[in-house]
Amino acid sequence: MKYDIKQINDLIRNRRSIFPKMYTGELVPRQVIEQMLENANWAPTHKFTEPWRFKVFYDQGVKTFAQFQADLYRQRTSKQDFDEIKHQKLLQKPQLASCIIALIMKRDPSQRIPQIEEIAAVSCAVQNMYLTATACGVGCYWSTGGPTFWDEAKAFFDLGPEDKLLGFLYVGMPLQKTFHSKRGPWEDKVEWVEAG
Ligand SMILES: Cc1cc2nc3c(=O)[nH]c(=O)nc-3n(C[C@H](O)[C@H](O)[C@H](O)COP(=O)(O)O)c2cc1C
Repeated sequence: MKYDIKQINDLIRNRRSIFPKMYTGELVPRQVIEQMLENANWAPTHKFTEPWRFKVFYDQGVKTFAQFQADLYRQRTSKQDFDEIKHQKLLQKPQLASCIIALIMKRDPSQRIPQIEEIAAVSCAVQNMYLTATACGVGCYWSTGGPTFWDEAKAFFDLGPEDKLLGFLYVGMPLQKTFHSKRGPWEDKVEWVEAG
């Protein structure tokens, strides 16, 4: 067999979402980020629209993202609703990461396929990055927090009216080697049809 299925199974099943408070602060090498991005580019894509786009905040660049989201939160929030703890979290949390990759769906200009297919393709690209990070011993997690759903963020990410920000992949060196998660049995989510 060309690939070691046991290794592939382990990689898929041991991939974890690893959050910024579990990062060491050591810088993830740029080559790892580049490999993640290159593998993202090999996601499946209907009609080859390749809708994934990434804005990469790396090393000191994470401060630019942190400041942006904290400032935008202040701008778009009334004095009465403003929460200083939330503001500080928006400012501090990104700075625990080595890299934050903004996950963007760039809509095909002629809209040849439904939007959901473009979002699905970007999600496949994100999973490629998750698995590449896992294989390299690097932690990451997909966040849909901060400005993900704030319309005012569109210009900062160069989004056209039909494009969508799908969140952020936080990346950092993990404090420990193994993390646990849970799933219900796969058999409960599958219906087989074997009779003609
Ligand atoms: C589309 C998407 C959005 C997510 N957004 C968040 C988020 O905003 N905050 C968060 O803590 N985790 C988020 N997660 C990560 C999940 O919390 C994580 O996958 C879940 O806890 C299972 O952990 P595991 O990936 O280690 O198995 C998101 C995951 C996906 C697929």
